[in-house]
Amino acid sequence: MKAIVCTQFGGPALLDLQSLSDPKPGPREVRIAVAAAGVNFPDTLIIQGKYQYRAEPPFVPGAEVAGEVVEVGDQVSRLKVGDRVAAFTPVGGYASQAVAPEAACVPLPAGMSLTEGGGYGLVYGTVSHALIQCAALKAGETLLVLGAAGGVGLAAVQLGKLMGARVIAAASSDAKLALAREQGADDGINYRDTSLKDSVKALTRGQGVDVIFDPVGGPLARDCLSAAGWGCRYLIVGFAEGNIPELPANRLLLKEMAAKGVFWGAFTAREPATNAANFAQLAAWYDAGRFKPVISQTYALDQAPQALQDLLDRKVTGKVVLVP
Ligand SMILES: NC(=O)c1ccc[n+]([C@@H]2O[C@H](COP(=O)([O-])OP(=O)(O)OC[C@H]3O[C@@H](n4cnc5c(N)ncnc54)[C@H](OP(=O)(O)O)[C@@H]3O)[C@@H](O)[C@H]2O)c1
Repeated sequence: MKAIVCTQFGGPALLDLQSLSDPKPGPREVRIAVAAAGVNFPDTLIIQGKYQYRAEPPFVPGAEVAGEVVEVGDQVSRLKVGDRVAAFTPVGGYASQAVAPEAACVPLPAGMSLTEGGGYGLVYGTVSHALIQCAALKAGETLLVLGAAGGVGLAAVQLGKLMGARVIAAASSDAKLALAREQGADDGINYRDTSLKDSVKALTRGQGVDVIFDPVGGPLARDCLSAAGWGCRYLIVGFAEGNIPELPANRLLLKEMAAKGVFWGAFTAREPATNAANFAQLAAWYDAGRFKPVISQTYALDQAPQALQDLLDRKVTGKVVLVP
């Protein structure tokens, strides 16, 4: 098979396209012919040795794939050859063949293309868990989404809207906000040109928002505390900006606000039944035409370094996938 290999920690330019033997599934694993491999921000960190999940070189990066099952381990009970799945790997996805535990595979909705599937599992799994379990978002509430045109951000805009929230998208350019509006956002704030804090106050008549979805971190986190309303749930999803913010506890106290971490990968292992229920809900929403993954660009496998660099340069909107 063809695969992208991280032979030493560093930037995307150090990645190598290699020919490797096909991976063999273990007893509880399946092998998947990869039709699309999702490119996710954590991939940019894993190849630098900076992610919470550490793989040692040489390894094949890539946290998620979509494709057909071509081989099953002898203790696999639910999946069979020919099934269309999205799988969380969490490395090994940037390849024409990948293995994943059966427990980390979800069926693709019948109408979903395999290319869309490459941008489905990880972001919609994360966002459904964040909004349903972590925030208990209710219809009529106001949801502020940072990085609203990015992978998890755009999915949060879509799912927040279909759960009945008023969605305020926040991003670094008007073009990104236009995309978020197309995908359901009611309002947009360009946080490069204007104050997030003042804009949220103006849009909510000083009340603040009920839920904040933050995959960006850095200095914007302070503005989020000001944008929060009474009883706000502040979802800590990631730190794409690069800096981990510190939150003063007094600011949480004053608004009876909750800062809530979101760690989808660990949640899938600890609460598989709830994760499966989330995916059943996602499939029902997808089948009813309520949302569609936005795949803004596809790249060939050997263009993986370019795809990762575009992500780091904030050029990407929605999801990008590698098509081996
Ligand atoms: N907790 C979990 O379970 C979980 C699951 C998946 C992902 N994540 C995390 O969520 C974050 C977003 O992941 P993603 O795959 O959605 O990434 P993405 O598509 O690249 O989106 C990240 C967004 O962050 C903003 N951003 C601000 N400063 C940035 C910088 N210096 N470099 C890059 N982007 C910057 C960009 O929006 P603007 O240009 O509009 O600011 C960008 O659209 C990552 O930190 C990732 O690790 C967490």
